[in-house]
Amino acid sequence: MDFLELLRNRRSYRKFKEQPVEAEKIEAIKKAALMSPAGKRCNEWEFIVVEDKATLQALSTSKESGAELVSGAPLAIVVAADTTICDTCVEDASIASIIIQLEAADLGLGSCWVQCKGRKDKDGNSCEDNVRRILGIPEKYMVLNIIAIGYKDQDRKPYEYDKLAYDKFHNEKF
Ligand SMILES: Cc1cc2nc3c(=O)[nH]c(=O)nc-3n(C[C@H](O)[C@H](O)[C@H](O)COP(=O)(O)O)c2cc1C
Repeated sequence: MDFLELLRNRRSYRKFKEQPVEAEKIEAIKKAALMSPAGKRCNEWEFIVVEDKATLQALSTSKESGAELVSGAPLAIVVAADTTICDTCVEDASIASIIIQLEAADLGLGSCWVQCKGRKDKDGNSCEDNVRRILGIPEKYMVLNIIAIGYKDQDRKPYEYDKLAYDKFHNEKF
């Protein structure tokens, strides 16, 4: 698919079929993530691939709202980053995350970014702490998000070029 068309069709998908994601597709997503650009080539990200149902269920309650969809996904990739190496860990982890989502879209899969950094669960505990505990991630790693991935079980409309907010662009000066 043409790249602009891929971007137009990439939407957040929150309902997935039970069908597992094939190992070859997971491998392609890994390759894509590992080719992400990173400040000073720090590559301080770490990716935890989760397919275990009980773990996906636990992750889905790691914050008060907005993570429920993880329990219905056959696959999630948690994006973490070492905060002690570079000062661009949020940027680097974010870029890797969107690359994962775009590769997933190119493979015909749906995905949704579920934010962890800065979020809390219903008792006020940090979502990042919850995810670190569930997955055994050491303290020095920021947990940016959980990317839920799977075969789409909902229809989403693609973006329409003529409805984009072109006024966000400014010529020469703001
Ligand atoms: C930084 C960030 C955090 C997000 N957090 C969540 C989340 O916690 N739960 C969720 O369901 N969607 C989350 N999303 C998905 C957004 O709601 C979605 O991208 C936005 O509404 C635009 O819709 P689209 O992705 O279909 O274009 C997040 C997206 C980003 C980029």
